[in-house]
Amino acid sequence: MRIDIITCVPRLLDSFFAHSILKRAQDKGHAEVHIHDIRDYSTDKHKSVDDYAFGGGAGMVLQIEPIARCIRNLQNERTYDEVIYLTPDGERLQQGIVNRLSLNQNLILLCGHYKGVDQRVRDLFVTKEISIGDYVLSGGELAAAVLADAIIRLVPGVLNDETSALTDSFQDNLLAPPVYTRPYEFEGHKVPDILLSGHEARIEDWRYQQSVERTRERRPDLLNE
Ligand code: ADE
Repeated sequence: MRIDIITCVPRLLDSFFAHSILKRAQDKGHAEVHIHDIRDYSTDKHKSVDDYAFGGGAGMVLQIEPIARCIRNLQNERTYDEVIYLTPDGERLQQGIVNRLSLNQNLILLCGHYKGVDQRVRDLFVTKEISIGDYVLSGGELAAAVLADAIIRLVPGVLNDETSALTDSFQDNLLAPPVYTRPYEFEGHKVPDILLSGHEARIEDWRYQQSVERTRERRPDLLNE
């Protein structure tokens, strides 16, 4: 899995991919993340990449030329499955979308900033538009980081225990059950005895019941999907 992220604030993303599971995934060769600075594709002597909106109104708009150059450069090197624009008016991200995207080979994630990108970028280059929730961030970088993280952890070999992604919340439309570790007792609060019983089938059953109960309480909408 290769993910190319196009942004005008690359430093916002650099450290995110340099730690923990995402770093290990790259070190082991399961995933490659490349971050591209839109400014490197500007031909303007001030390296500017945005301009005022035609028709007026507050806020700057990212111009099409540097973004087009960057995307075309990448597409000349390899075929991309999707060019994804992160935007609050995109399709709301859900686990099912992440599952499908994790089966791809090469993805481009494009981050907006200010008032967003010139509409022609969306019309000509973007194949999918994704929002990470109904709120507005100051740029698409955090959204791209969220999406890339959710995708990369599903790539086979990235998680130590391959089954652990299967028991995540939202797989099967159920929230994950509670988990416990040592100590057995903290200030009088004990771990449920069933988890120490050694009885695998009963433990599985208990976890399933807990998942259903938690989902009914917190996210009944998931049970009706
Ligand atoms: N850019 C700004 N807000 C966003 C959101 N909620 N999702 C995706 N990209 C965004």
